[in-house]
Amino acid sequence: MNTISDIIQKRRTIDPDCFNGKIVPKVIIDKMLAATNWAPNHGHTEPWDFIIFEGHEKCKEFGVIHANLYKANNTPEHFLQKKYDKLLHRADNCSHVIICTNKRGNSKNIPDLEEICATSAAIQNLLLVAQENGVATFWSTGGLTHHDAFKAYFGYSEKDTVLAVIYIGYTDVEIPEGKRNSDFSNKVKYYQ
Ligand SMILES: Cc1cc2nc3c(=O)[nH]c(=O)nc-3n(C[C@H](O)[C@H](O)[C@H](O)COP(=O)(O)O)c2cc1C
Repeated sequence: MNTISDIIQKRRTIDPDCFNGKIVPKVIIDKMLAATNWAPNHGHTEPWDFIIFEGHEKCKEFGVIHANLYKANNTPEHFLQKKYDKLLHRADNCSHVIICTNKRGNSKNIPDLEEICATSAAIQNLLLVAQENGVATFWSTGGLTHHDAFKAYFGYSEKDTVLAVIYIGYTDVEIPEGKRNSDFSNKVKYYQ
């Protein structure tokens, strides 16, 4: 069975180092992106925005950009060659890399928090459709993801928020069991 409940539970964060380099067909990427557009959003603001690096060459190019942004925005004392190298090669086995950003509109009635909620829901939709199609994903906020220089580089404004870099590919490794510290029932209070 591949019910929505199964897909939700089976989705796992897979390290891109475990990707096998195979390319996800555009038709599947399009399905993942189409799903983002059905996320709930307050006031029809649809605040999600995506930049997509497609194929090995572009994914590697993203690695170069990210690593160089890291270098340019760190003092020599804080710069770590190991971190630079990791960012440089993070996407080497990826099929696609998607930068997911909350693009803040002008609607004063909708608070930032709600826009970020909507964009997060859009990202989860993307991950679930990936899972439905056997595609591995990794939601990352590492490196310079939250740095102003990162969003400026990609043409976003100060008001916008980069919420994720999603590394996408296929993997041959066995998908690990999910882990949660406590059952949902511990996070629920009923008024009956
Ligand atoms: C907002 C957000 C940011 C995340 N950033 C990172 C990250 O930078 N590095 C990482 O290894 N995982 C990151 N993750 C993935 C989590 O590590 C992962 O969801 C968690 O371990 C649970 O595993 P699962 O997704 O397989 O259920 C992020 C997840 C979210 C929601």
